[in-house]
Amino acid sequence: MDEAKLNEFMGRLVSDMGGAAMLASVLLGDELGLYKAMADNQPVTPDELAERTGCNPRLLREWLSAQAASGYLEHADGRFRLPEEQALALAVEDSPVYVAGGASVLAALYQDKDKLVAAMRGDGALPWGDHHPCLFRGTERFFRPGYRAHLVEEWLPALDGVVDKLRSGARVADIGCGHGASTVIMAEAFPASQFFGFDYHAPSVETASRRAHEAGVDERAQFAQASAKDYPGEYDLICFFDCLHDMGDPVGAARHAGQRLAADGSVLLVEPYAGDSLEDNLTPVGRLFYAASTFICTPNSLSQEVGLGLGAQAGEARLRKVFEEAGFTRFRRAAETPFNLILEARR
Ligand SMILES: C[S@@+](CC[C@H](N)C(=O)[O-])C[C@H]1O[C@@H](n2cnc3c(N)ncnc32)[C@H](O)[C@@H]1O
Repeated sequence: MDEAKLNEFMGRLVSDMGGAAMLASVLLGDELGLYKAMADNQPVTPDELAERTGCNPRLLREWLSAQAASGYLEHADGRFRLPEEQALALAVEDSPVYVAGGASVLAALYQDKDKLVAAMRGDGALPWGDHHPCLFRGTERFFRPGYRAHLVEEWLPALDGVVDKLRSGARVADIGCGHGASTVIMAEAFPASQFFGFDYHAPSVETASRRAHEAGVDERAQFAQASAKDYPGEYDLICFFDCLHDMGDPVGAARHAGQRLAADGSVLLVEPYAGDSLEDNLTPVGRLFYAASTFICTPNSLSQEVGLGLGAQAGEARLRKVFEEAGFTRFRRAAETPFNLILEARR
């Protein structure tokens, strides 16, 4: 037994336990508006923050102290300050690095632990809709900042000829659209085009319709409940945002997309960033995605027809194989971010 190695590992575990506890603390800060109340970057006492937010000052002092111990806040002379950089991640919803909203995806892992115990002892299946509802809103808030930052500015222009079609008027399908964050962003940017969001989870489709209405794009962004293998229509662009690997039959979904594409149409496939081997993915981002994949993506896939179980860290080579099996002849990496692979498939 190497004591130094043990101590190093214990240090890592204590840090992870602190991180897991802090995520719950982030949920409080998000829901109670505590970060937003400190977004002016000015130092506050617990009593001043209590006045601004209506929260209990004694509990706020404890919450602020945990935040300071984590480096989320600065502390001096009994006052706590949210620095500008931390505010971008925790308080500013429009910022490309806003992560506080996505923390409730991780809350769902804890909420649904007992369901996972049952799935792991059984056939491995847990459908998307059987999770705690905090997953659905959390997924929307986790992914939307990235879509806002990259989709219109970088990912669509990286596809061959797609932006010209969108500007002049194209038909676009957004499969597994969830709460429609990507659909609404595209509909806002391309008023001459028509957008159709499909998801097999009915409550998500309802929320997506509401989001389109709130954004004033409901005339060109419509939503319907449908599986990835049975939606109707013909499209110039078919998108899969962070959902193909969740599906039981990704090859069937890609084949159906091939049948629904107009001549010379394109598929935009956005998937979690991953390399092709397990060793490539033994990284901080890889561990986050593998853990989420254990609880969410893979059990959902195992709950559906075929049950391929691609996993969230499938990687480009495996995804290419899915599209080749579905009859596509062209497949390439169009762009990437630290969190996403952006792939283009054509027949
Ligand atoms: C991780 S969420 C991503 C949602 C959305 N695309 C986004 O980026 O915010 C995966 C979505 O795929 C949907 N889904 C899973 N399997 C499906 C299937 N076979 N057909 C249609 N939708 C499916 C789920 O209901 C869920 O909304």
